[in-house]
Amino acid sequence: MPHPHLPAACLYSRPSLGRLWKKVQLTCSPFVQRPELQRLYRLPSSAIRRHWGRRPYSVLALGCADGVKESLLLEKLPPPAVLLAADTNPGLARLAATRLAARTKLWRKIDLTRPLPASLARDLHPVSSNGIPIARRHPLLITLFGVLPNLPPLPLLKRVARFLRPNDLLLFSANLAPGTCGFSGALRVLSQYDNPPTRSWLESAVGRLRPRLPKGRMQFGIFPDPRQKSLARIEARWIGAKKTLTVFSSRRPTSSQVEAWIRAAPMQKVACYLDPLGEEGVWLVARRA
Ligand SMILES: C[S@@+](CC[C@H](N)C(=O)[O-])C[C@H]1O[C@@H](n2cnc3c(N)ncnc32)[C@H](O)[C@@H]1O
Repeated sequence: MPHPHLPAACLYSRPSLGRLWKKVQLTCSPFVQRPELQRLYRLPSSAIRRHWGRRPYSVLALGCADGVKESLLLEKLPPPAVLLAADTNPGLARLAATRLAARTKLWRKIDLTRPLPASLARDLHPVSSNGIPIARRHPLLITLFGVLPNLPPLPLLKRVARFLRPNDLLLFSANLAPGTCGFSGALRVLSQYDNPPTRSWLESAVGRLRPRLPKGRMQFGIFPDPRQKSLARIEARWIGAKKTLTVFSSRRPTSSQVEAWIRAAPMQKVACYLDPLGEEGVWLVARRA
């Protein structure tokens, strides 16, 4: 029987928790420390340009936080016609919209555990009062960086796939388990999570829960994902005298597990960019015809 899991949004949605998460990023994230990982977010611009040529396009940045990764990509592309930044933390989404260049910028609070609302499509492709599109629909680039580790990945990819139209693209990242075995690979990166700044962020989130949790301690470990036993999941668990709660989890798939999700979503791979150390990958995919 899996332990109850705190919804991932509870770790990010308040402004103070968003700030603590950012501090963790700046002090512990390999993305900040390793230029090879930053490069993964610039590289797809060439394949996107090849795919669409000079056509105008729009961007839907899902779970974008403050948009740092999207900014690396968009610096290499012409500004989109419409940029919609969407996150459970609307303050972070607003920062992303401020940071990124676009002709029209919007931001929204969103819940990525639910189907993507039809209102997103209306914001991206406005229609007149009699339902006629105001402008020709541009192809859409959806970005989804750093979210797949936190939410059940295949259901999330399926929800995004349902939103894609022919000729749209999805660019997403996954935090990988280096090597071919998810569990031993996850062990190699455990210290990226089990450290004082991450503990302090997660303990702050636990401290804000109502009703309060009974006294306990935070323990990190690697466990099989309850929905996919072969998938390694790094978890931070709150261990109380009578109850255990999974406060945080980060899935660490191998690249072949990610490719199986793409096929199951169902989508098709356009290009993929892998970290030389095998800790992160970025996939460019499209709806399967
Ligand atoms: C690990 S952070 C990644 C942020 C950023 N994209 C990056 O890669 O640096 C996960 C992001 O997903 C957002 N998030 C978590 N759960 C969410 C949910 N249920 N709906 C929408 N956004 C969510 C968080 O607010 C946060 O910005």
